[in-house]
Amino acid sequence: MSDQTPITILDIGTTKVICMQVRPDQSTPGFEVLGYAYLPCTGLSRGSVVDIDTTVHAVRSAVKEVESQTNSRIRDVMIGLSGLHVSSTASNGIVGIRNKEVTTVDVERVIEAAKAIAIPDNQTLIHTLPQEFIVDGQAGVKKPIGMNGVRLEACVLMLRAVTSALQNVVKCVEMCGLRVKQVIAQPVAVSQSVLSADEKDLGVCLLDIGGGTTDVGVCKRGALRHVSSVPIAGEHVTNDLAVALCTPPKSAEAIKVAHGKIISTEYEGAQHITVDSLSNQSTQKVSTQLLSEVIEARYHEILSFVKRDLKEKQLLDMIPGGIVITGGGALVPGLVDLTKRVFNCQARIAEPTIVLQDRTLVDAGYAASLGLILQALQERDRLDGSKAGAVTRMWTAFQHWLDYHL
Ligand SMILES: Nc1ncnc2c1ncn2[C@@H]1O[C@H](COP(=O)(O)OP(=O)(O)OP(=O)(O)O)[C@@H](O)[C@H]1O
Ligand SMILES: [Mg+2]
Repeated sequence: MSDQTPITILDIGTTKVICMQVRPDQSTPGFEVLGYAYLPCTGLSRGSVVDIDTTVHAVRSAVKEVESQTNSRIRDVMIGLSGLHVSSTASNGIVGIRNKEVTTVDVERVIEAAKAIAIPDNQTLIHTLPQEFIVDGQAGVKKPIGMNGVRLEACVLMLRAVTSALQNVVKCVEMCGLRVKQVIAQPVAVSQSVLSADEKDLGVCLLDIGGGTTDVGVCKRGALRHVSSVPIAGEHVTNDLAVALCTPPKSAEAIKVAHGKIISTEYEGAQHITVDSLSNQSTQKVSTQLLSEVIEARYHEILSFVKRDLKEKQLLDMIPGGIVITGGGALVPGLVDLTKRVFNCQARIAEPTIVLQDRTLVDAGYAASLGLILQALQERDRLDGSKAGAVTRMWTAFQHWLDYHL
């Protein structure tokens, strides 16, 4: 693959499919967007396919739209994976250093040793992320090659997915005549697109509040340390509104996006909006305060759930950099203040930028797509394995990882 070969990514979420094709170039952020399509899709629930036909139709339509924009035929794609079935395990490996000086081969051996833990039969390993090395008991080593010693240890984070869930997403993509070149866990991708090097170093928690799940990633000392997922997100907020306002879910979604706010503590006075009844034959007036209270209650639950999870895993003290929020669910006004209150720390909404045909789009909802592109660009050389041997490919990937993270 030459450097200029376009890369196509698919972000298949609970509510939508995004297909984006980019061409690497020398500009900032390092690529030019050639084509972009966003299509609603209800074929997934919490990251798993629940309706193959709907998913295939949405993916095919999104890809066709990009093909017509770029006047090209798309064959290879990189896909993002998120949701309840993606999880992480930390593992350590230890080997003797063969010639008293660490070589690339020692590093490969120690990473392989760290990977040698039992993965449940129903799960597939999708990423092995080296975090740090220990040479003769000296911890925190970032680049061990060339160091003298007799014993090398590696700490890695292994990201895995439930195999059937992974296979079903891949199957839907392949049914569109596409070839999946790479599966990327979205927390890995999003951490690329929205976190600064300082944040990753100091320690932050990344929240991707999507439609069906809130994906959690914790970064510390320059690397991703933990990945998990909470089964509550934007669709639950919409359902709550539908129940509270006695309105169809479609109307509840439109009202949430147009009028939703988390401001109940500083309510500004009585305002009312018109809401469709369930039968769609009449309307009713609803106070915006009620709207805010319903929205705030569900977001409070999501954040409390995440906080409890982090506390149980003893990660809460590892994130002095605070919380960085992405995903469509991050777009509700007032979320930063609520997050600060719940976690008692700093919080911000991530705002990745994409320049698309002279339009500049700044939106937390693009974080996953942008991250997939950045990750795909990074992985591109590694995937060009026709000439390189397995060891060389692994080392190249590791070098990329080092260059990016350290
Ligand atoms: N302005 C807004 N205010 C509140 N919520 C919003 C807004 N815009 C979008 N959302 C919500 O964001 C959610 C979709 O976010 P996103 O596109 O990140 O999800 P997804 O990737 O499809 O789902 P998942 O990541 O869970 O698989 C929807 O529930 C939608 O209602
Ligand atoms: Mg998503």
